[in-house]
Amino acid sequence: MKIYIGNDHAGVEMKNQIVEFLKTKGHEVINIGTDDSHSVDYPAFGKEVAKKVVENSTYGIIICGTGIGISIAANKVKGARAALCYEDQTTILARQHNNANILALGARIIANEKAVRLVDFFLNTEFEERHKNRVEKLNNQ
Ligand code: RB5
Repeated sequence: MKIYIGNDHAGVEMKNQIVEFLKTKGHEVINIGTDDSHSVDYPAFGKEVAKKVVENSTYGIIICGTGIGISIAANKVKGARAALCYEDQTTILARQHNNANILALGARIIANEKAVRLVDFFLNTEFEERHKNRVEKLNNQ
């Protein structure tokens, strides 16, 4: 699967661990985040990942210090459903109930190992079609 990943300076190390994990699982990873520790602004990265995810009907992962700013940016793109998750259950429910297509992570909030686990849950949990009508309404707002 083609997966877009983007991050600000706070998320570089977490991004690298996730990319490594995704490659071992055979995914094609497109890195559109920053790769060094110089301070950058997260809005452009969130927006760019969201645009690519919607255009290509695939998944994205976005990372900033808390995951909050970059998820707000991503959710301004029509068709993007970015879910900020810090633990297993909401990650699974974001897929099952919300058909989230972008996972937002907070590099200063959770450990990198946990982030990798959440990515694994996110990519391996199916949307439950009984929630389809509600999710479609999100596109019309
Ligand atoms: C950058 O210092 C920080 O504000 C950013 O990574 C993020 O946490 C914003 O929501």
